[in-house]
Amino acid sequence: MNLTLYVWRQANAKAPGKMERYETKGISPDMSFLEMLDVTNEQLIKQGIEPIVFDHDCREGICGMCSQVINGVPHGPEELVTVCQLHMRRFNDGDTIFIEPWRSKAFPIEKDLMVDRGAFDRIMQAYGYTSITCGGAPDANDHPIPKWQLDRAMDAAECIGCGACVAACPNASGMLFTAAKVAHLNMLPQGKPEGARRVKAMIAAHDLEGFGNCTNHYECEAACPKGVKTAFISYLNKELIKALPKGAQD
Ligand code: SF4
Ligand code: FES
Repeated sequence: MNLTLYVWRQANAKAPGKMERYETKGISPDMSFLEMLDVTNEQLIKQGIEPIVFDHDCREGICGMCSQVINGVPHGPEELVTVCQLHMRRFNDGDTIFIEPWRSKAFPIEKDLMVDRGAFDRIMQAYGYTSITCGGAPDANDHPIPKWQLDRAMDAAECIGCGACVAACPNASGMLFTAAKVAHLNMLPQGKPEGARRVKAMIAAHDLEGFGNCTNHYECEAACPKGVKTAFISYLNKELIKALPKGAQD
């Protein structure tokens, strides 16, 4: 396949950026989107052009690093996949593809397609953990819970912190991420004792980072490569109402 790429090039967070046009040749339909960028970079280096900077780590849909907006859609045209799992067979020979970074004040651009998602780490540092000392590894059935409860917590734990929900949201809200992280702890017995403190701390950290609020556009759910549902945002709101003192809930 031969393709025309328009790629966002930007030296750093403060420098002005612009779309650059590149022709890339000899792309196999079996390549992943990131392998296509690897081949493109080899071609650019041969032409004396600085290669495109983009983030990646696992290339298995686990780490959440491969943050790119492809033809206007976070993670591209395939549902429920990350960019590293998107294959070139999804495109046609001769296609033009536009590639941009996540766009959000809370995710400053480091270079080209790479953004700084440290804001998510700081939300996790606020209370995305349990601090209860529980000794050695507990036996598997120490805390019997119903299967539906376990399944819900696991659905929330699917979140890989990629940031597509923020990139897709017109408010650049990080609520789906924050909700998933609160839910997967608060829904389990080990996380419940600190649940009220957790939800308040993580929402405060979310707001401090400059993410917007949720106004029910559902774009986050549509963009999420792991199928995390906005029902967790409802859960987050309920947890917050329960955590607030009486009177502050109105
Ligand atoms: S909720 Fe989905 S889109 Fe948002 S960070 Fe988690 S995995 Fe990515
Ligand atoms: S590179 Fe890890 S999820 Fe894509």
